[in-house]
Amino acid sequence: MKQNVGMANNKLINNPEILAAAQALQRGNLVALPTETVYGLGADATNPDALKKIFAAKGRPSDHPLIVHIAKGAPLGHWAVQIPDAAHKLIDEFWPGPLTLILKRGKGIPLDVTGGQETVGIRCPAHPMAQALLTVFAKIGSGVVAAPSANKFGHVSPTNAQHVRDEFGSAIGQSIYLLDGGTCKVGIESTILDLSRGKLVLLRPGAISREQIRDVTGDVPLMSDETVAAKNEAAAPRVSGSLAAHYAPLTPLKLLAAEPLKAEMDSMLDSGKRVAVLAFAAPPKMNPSPVGVGIRNARRLVWITGDHDAVGYAQGLYANLRTLDAAATSVILVEAPPKSAPWDAVNDRLSRAAVGSGKHR
Ligand code: TXA
Ligand code: MG
Repeated sequence: MKQNVGMANNKLINNPEILAAAQALQRGNLVALPTETVYGLGADATNPDALKKIFAAKGRPSDHPLIVHIAKGAPLGHWAVQIPDAAHKLIDEFWPGPLTLILKRGKGIPLDVTGGQETVGIRCPAHPMAQALLTVFAKIGSGVVAAPSANKFGHVSPTNAQHVRDEFGSAIGQSIYLLDGGTCKVGIESTILDLSRGKLVLLRPGAISREQIRDVTGDVPLMSDETVAAKNEAAAPRVSGSLAAHYAPLTPLKLLAAEPLKAEMDSMLDSGKRVAVLAFAAPPKMNPSPVGVGIRNARRLVWITGDHDAVGYAQGLYANLRTLDAAATSVILVEAPPKSAPWDAVNDRLSRAAVGSGKHR
């Protein structure tokens, strides 16, 4: 998971686009930036006016806290305090990388970032362009960038620059400076681990697994729904990514096992409906529609075969959901992946996508 950011960084630090992006942040404007997980919509984390622009652009409620991004090796003291030993071990092992740590808020972080809470989520992204941006921004500004995923609130996260353009349209190049860093390697959002409660609590599964966290800290993180406190706090959305409905396409999405999926697909096709599918098998052979029957220019069945490996599946997941959504069928049928640990993060995102889907069609 670790990347050697040093080499690429040296070249990128002198890149005019990185400088322009850092200057935009310094002036209080928004920058869409690539990370190894998903694209982020960034603003100076110390500038409340700039932070307001994030919430406005996303349509996100202002009590949903943002993750703060910092450069590798940057001192943490101004941004987080009472950092436990476990955090230092995890930082040494996994930063830069897809792990966000929830820590006690330091004085340098305004409450606008944390949704009024006394904790802050901090992460050090591994994408070389993100590292270069944070390094240059540390020279001309605060060096800390608050960035949620660069999508409208509740929608599917972007994993390439075109997805970001699709989300924000004409604002790109006007009020939002976009850095194009290609396709995100991980493809789903970072693991979020809460270290602020005297025990480890996993708030969002991601590419860094519970087992990897246990191997480094000696403790198995609790799942957030295993803590009584988390249950009591359920009414307050501390983690928007933990809302039941999130990461969702506009087309209704159903998660099904292979057999019922096939049955549902067949009956929909028989009744003349178009269907989009994300499954593990190869697409079935379809008879062409008879002339004059159905929508001649639109494919009746849009089928994507997902990667059999959880890492590859995660990398393509959001792009696949976007493709299926754009097919504008009446439903997206997704074959439920295995229930085993490597699929935890993918299963988490798919179940939330299913709950949140279909709001606009
Ligand atoms: O991979 C990622 O984490 C991406 C990239 C851009 O870094 N960012 C991302 O941000 O997924 P966002 O805002 O879409 O999701 C961040 C999650 C939210 O669910 C938010 O509620 C939670 O982190 N979060 C941030 N600060 C928190 C805090 N102090 N306590 C609890 N949850 C927090
Ligand atoms: Mg998000």
